[in-house]
Amino acid sequence: MIPDKDTRAKEARAELEERIRERRIVIGIIGLGYVGLPLAVEFARQGIRAIGIEIDEDKVRQIQEGRNYIRDIDDAHVRELVADGTLSATSDYAACADCDALFICVPTPFTENKDPDIRYIVNASAKIAEHLKPGQIVILKSTTFPNTTEGHVQPILENSGLKAGQDFYLAFSPERIDPGNQKFHTGNTPIVVGGLTPNCTELACAVNRLIIDQIMSVSGPKAAEMSKLLENIFRSVNIALVNELARLCDRMGGINVWEVIQAASTKPFGFMPFYPGPGIGGHCILIDPYYLSWAAREHDFVTNFITLAAEVNESMPFYVRDMITRAIARQPVTMADARILLLGVAFKRDVDDLRHSPALKVMDLLLADGVVNLEYHDPFVPAMELEGREMTSIPKLTPDVLRQFNVVVITTDHTVFDYEMIVAHSKMVIDTRNACKEVAAESDNVVLLGDGR
Ligand SMILES: NC(=O)c1ccc[n+]([C@@H]2O[C@H](COP(=O)([O-])OP(=O)(O)OC[C@H]3O[C@@H](n4cnc5c(N)ncnc54)[C@H](O)[C@@H]3O)[C@@H](O)[C@H]2O)c1
Repeated sequence: MIPDKDTRAKEARAELEERIRERRIVIGIIGLGYVGLPLAVEFARQGIRAIGIEIDEDKVRQIQEGRNYIRDIDDAHVRELVADGTLSATSDYAACADCDALFICVPTPFTENKDPDIRYIVNASAKIAEHLKPGQIVILKSTTFPNTTEGHVQPILENSGLKAGQDFYLAFSPERIDPGNQKFHTGNTPIVVGGLTPNCTELACAVNRLIIDQIMSVSGPKAAEMSKLLENIFRSVNIALVNELARLCDRMGGINVWEVIQAASTKPFGFMPFYPGPGIGGHCILIDPYYLSWAAREHDFVTNFITLAAEVNESMPFYVRDMITRAIARQPVTMADARILLLGVAFKRDVDDLRHSPALKVMDLLLADGVVNLEYHDPFVPAMELEGREMTSIPKLTPDVLRQFNVVVITTDHTVFDYEMIVAHSKMVIDTRNACKEVAAESDNVVLLGDGR
């Protein structure tokens, strides 16, 4: 007798559960970037076969050759896991058919007008649909607006002829990785899971439990999608608040915002410190608020608070440009002749990620203002392109190098920088990160964002 649909679905689920329990499950990771590769490596390190499916041939080749390209991952892990066959990479979606669980970890950028651009999710889902098999589970990890999983991914996957929640399983489980964080990594960071059905949630939790200790399940994908946006918008709003306060302290004079934040931080409850800076960057905090603002418009809802925070944060590179312009004006040199050095172009400390870095925006603005002699030093970013211009990092920061510049701007506070040397040998330092706090007190050549001097 041919088993009916329900029986087949039950059998498929039982088979998946057994494979998870016996750790025979094969994981497919779509997109081997800052999120996907650490996830694949974490599964592989737990002895679970992980296949990366990546459209960037160069990344595929590097993994196939056992070479790592993400800073937080140990090179030896990639080498050994590839050598023993636990970790592999391909650009061929046919590999989906060998997998039990598929994690989608593709980018979610915005368009020029800052509307969500989910075409990577759409493309990945369409390719998965071509190979989808009964009993597989698909877990979307890319940060996106509520209803992406049900409204966009589900119908595309169902074009396969299989039904979500019945023939295959679908869940949203946002990523929380914090590149450069020495304490929290994939394995010890709790995650949120929201499945389309209770079965989907349970199975998605079971797969994740193979590598992650703490999992919080929520009622469905929409709650999980919204929770991720809340986390990042929370940061955006609080950073905007301290950015505004920093500018107020500058205006008032005589109050150092960094001291104020430190003082407020002694309150053991109800306060969490956030710090001002030259603006926000990276693939998350800058972009994600726009995803929610866009989704809200469909419901005749204007997210005033979120939009205001984005406006304040995005004005910060302009504010830093103005600080630099004033610093130059105090010297016997014109903007066209001034020599300006930016220290740190990555979007945050100790990472090599340039995406939406506020330092690049500051550089853009300076170039637009006619600055010609603009250079940077960043040990994490040896070379980069800015507005079609190839730039290379000044290889070594020395007293002689520092003395050549009219203004040295600390845009990213990498820990490897020698701040004592920077302050001692620069004509003028603009510190947007309070990086020189230990050495600046006795120096009159440091202009600190948010202390009104
Ligand atoms: N970077 C972070 O710190 C971080 C943290 C939490 C969440 N996220 C979210 O995770 C998602 C991925 O971010 P990321 O930083 O890893 O991006 P990334 O650009 O580093 O990596 C994405 C990878 O996906 C590949 N890709 C694109 N389309 C593909 C397709 N159709 N098939 C296969 N591969 C494809 C790209 O080539 C790239 O290698 C985003 O939604 C982001 O918001 C990122």
